[in-house]
Formats: sequence, C-alpha cells, structure tokens
Amino acid sequence: MRKYAIVLAAGKGTRMKTELPKCAYPLLRKPMIAYIVENLKNTGLLDELIVVVGHKKEIMMDILNDTVTYAVQEEQLGTGHAVKMAKDKMTDMDGFTIILPGDMPLINETVIAEAINDHKEYGNDLTVVTTIVDDPFGYGRIIRNGNDSLDSIIEENDATNVQKAIKEINTGIYIIKNNLLFQALDQVTNDNSKGEYYLTDIVKILKNENANMGTYVLKTSYKAMGVNDLYALSVAEGKLRNDINRALMIKGVAMINPETITIGHNVVIEENVTIHPNTYITGNSIVKKGAQIGPNTEIHNSEIGESVVCKHSLVYNSRVQEYTTVGPFAHLRDGADIGPRNRIGNFVEIKKSSTGENTKASHLAYIGDAEIGNHVNFGCGAITVNYDGSNKYKTIIGDNVFVGCNVNLIAPIEVHDDSFIAAGSTLNKNVPKGTLAIARAYQVNKENYMKLKKDQD
Ligand code: UD1
Ligand code: CA
Repeated sequence: MRKYAIVLAAGKGTRMKTELPKCAYPLLRKPMIAYIVENLKNTGLLDELIVVVGHKKEIMMDILNDTVTYAVQEEQLGTGHAVKMAKDKMTDMDGFTIILPGDMPLINETVIAEAINDHKEYGNDLTVVTTIVDDPFGYGRIIRNGNDSLDSIIEENDATNVQKAIKEINTGIYIIKNNLLFQALDQVTNDNSKGEYYLTDIVKILKNENANMGTYVLKTSYKAMGVNDLYALSVAEGKLRNDINRALMIKGVAMINPETITIGHNVVIEENVTIHPNTYITGNSIVKKGAQIGPNTEIHNSEIGESVVCKHSLVYNSRVQEYTTVGPFAHLRDGADIGPRNRIGNFVEIKKSSTGENTKASHLAYIGDAEIGNHVNFGCGAITVNYDGSNKYKTIIGDNVFVGCNVNLIAPIEVHDDSFIAAGSTLNKNVPKGTLAIARAYQVNKENYMKLKKDQD
C-alpha cells in the first residue's frame, strides 16, 4: 500500500503580476515550494512525493533538485488537470494520496499528520481539510447538507451570494484513496466560469457515488492561507517570522524590535543570544549561546560561535569561532573560517581564508585565499594580492607575525612565524622565520627645498 503526496506547482501565478513562478517566491529567503516539501517529508508518513511543475519548470526543478518525483503539466488547464498529470508516476492504486497546493507555505507537519490520521481513523474515501475564516474571498466554499455532511465545493466565481457568505473554506488539501482519485478526475469537466478542470469537483462526483467523505477542520486558519499575490506573500512571511521569533524568544533568545528581525526556518539559535534590529539570519545557520548579533547584520549558511559579537556586518557561508568580534562593516564570505578571540574590524573583507587564535585585522583590510596563524596582527590597509587577472594564489602567514599598515602580499607567498613586515612594503618573496622584511623605497629628505623653490619662482 503506497502513500503518495501530490503538490501542485505548475501554475504561473497570474495574480503575482511578476516573472518568477509563484511557488518559487521566497519567504524568509527560502522558496515557498521548499516549505511544503520539507514539511511533507518530516511527517514520515509518505512513500513518495510528486510535484507537478509546468510554467518555468526549470526554476522549480532547480530549487527541489532530486528530492522529489516530477510530473509535468505543459498547459495549465486547472487543478484537476494538474493532478491527472501525476497518474503515470503512481504505480500502486491501493494506498492513499494527499494533495496540496504549492502556494501554502504556512501549513506545518503536525497539521498534515493529524489530517492523515483522521482520514485513516474514520476510514474515509476522501477527507477535505477545511477551515473557518473571517474573509473567505477568493477561496472555494464548503457546501454541507442538512445533516452537516460534506456535499460539494463551490469556487468564488461560481458561487451565489448566499454561498459567498459561507465562511468555511477549502484549504486545498485533500486525502483520497488512489483508486477513487483518477476515477473521479475522469468525470471532471471544464464547464464553469473559468473554463478550467477544477479538482474541487471531485467532491460532488464522489458524493453522488455515495463515497465515505469527511472533513478535517483546521483550527488555526491562518496556517492554511494561500498565497496568490505579493500582498498575501508579505502577510504569510510576517506570520512565519512571528511564529519563528516567538518560539525563539520563549526559548531564551532576546530580540530587540523583533518585527525587523528575520530568522530562517532552518536556523538554530541557542539560549542567551541577543539579536538587535534589522538582522537576517537565514539558510542553515547556527548561532551559539551568548552571541550578540546585529544591528544591521546578515548571516547566511554560517556558524557563529559562543559569545561572538557581530555588528553591521555580512557573513555568508562562513564560520566564526568563540569570543571573536566582527564589525562594524565587515564582510566574511565563501568559506571564511575565523578562529577564536579574533578581532575582525571596520571595512575588512575576508574570503576563503582561515585564521588561528587571537588574530586581528582591525581595519581596512582584504584577506583572500589565505591561511593565517595565531596572534597575527594584520595592519590597517594591508591586503593579500591574490589575483593576477586569471588565477587565484595562496598566502600563508605563520604565528606571531606583524603585518604593518598598507602592506601588499603578492601571492603565492609564505610569511613564516615571528616575522615583522614594515609598513608600506610590497612583498613578492617568502619571509623566513623571525625576519624583518622591508620592501619599499627609502625616504629622501631634501632640506630647505620648499624655500629654495619659492625663491626661484
Ligand atoms: C484553489 C482551490 C480553492 C481553494 C484554494 C486554496 C480549485 C479549483 N480551487 O483555488 O477551492 O480554496 O485553492 O488556496 O482547486 N496549479 C497547477 N496547475 C493548474 C492550476 C493551478 O499546478 O493548471 C497549481 C498552482 O500553481 C497553485 C495551486 O495549483 O500552487 C492552486 O492553484 P490556484 O490558482 O492558486 O488556486 P486558487 O484559485 O487559489
Ligand atoms: Ca491559491
């Protein structure tokens, strides 16, 4: 008995009025479709996930890679037609299928699991997940019979005024026996105001066949919200942000102006962390206890160690170890691996480089493709010259090295332990251990020159 999920994500998202396919739009820097797929997987109740793609399908497939099975709907003829496209991918007609729209990012794994359990417990042929909302505009309305049993779903455009007043809506989630699904879909027509094959019509069809139908009424209705336009996207993002921030604050993460703080869905933040305004922490990031992050900071796919202070800075795909301070205005990227108790200060950019303990680059430096040891002072304006226009080269600096201000280290180069590089030097040769390296023109003072010049003029 195989259990499938079908996620509908072939639509263009006409109401978004933009280029990107709707289900690819990000919330908290993660595409909408990725939430639903992740939550379905997390239930552990399904054998196979089929995502129906169509409009700009390459973009959708780029997001989900090989984590799902794809079905293609070349022409978007409606939600019922979209589900039919998955038929070929389904080899076992004995189990059940849960169908969900891809534009529903707030639904979580608990709701999905509960609805599936209800479906099994009541022995239903079809379970429709519904909810009650204050403003049902745009949603399909749930029509019930006198005895409260499910009768059909009427779309907004096809509803009478009396039906439009119904506040119980179709969330777009259905659980249905595999064999009944395609049997019912074959009877769906496009005889409606939009001329589309509505998936919702299977309810009436199965009702007429006396199928055993039930509803799972979701209590937290906002979780079922469908994102159809950019305003709804911002509302959904706000709800998600609020849910994540609230859970973190209750766990012991302090947030100043939490409405300006964006923490991604997969981020881990330990207790006693303080996050200041206008800060984004996204991707697979982790922030360890006692850290202070922000204001005005972006951290993406990075690990921030215990008691790190990071202000007004960008940290992408990098690691910062304990008790290091970053910023203001530092940029760490592409695998910067900063050791413990470092100081990475104003206007310092570090790319694909590592540092040991207690190393400092306090101001105005560029460190690229370098391995730097412990207790190194990388002076103001010092840079690694790592690129000759076509290739990148490595700089290696040992322990206890003092790199003076405005030094250019032309890579490939190695500066060994305990050496000292005079300010303003441009080095293109290795520096042995314990050496003072000076590579600059000597100063010439022409005394009285200015006065003589003036007398001449
Ligand atoms: C749909 C439901 C409505 C429900 C609402 C919940 C129908 C007819 N209506 O309306 O009852 O209240 O969701 O949010 O099902 N899609 C395809 N191929 C298509 C058309 C749509 O893959 O040909 C996908 C879209 O990409 C989207 C999902 O199906 O992810 C839902 O389509 P959408 O147009 O947003 O349906 P609604 O009008 O919101
Ligand atoms: Ca929708």
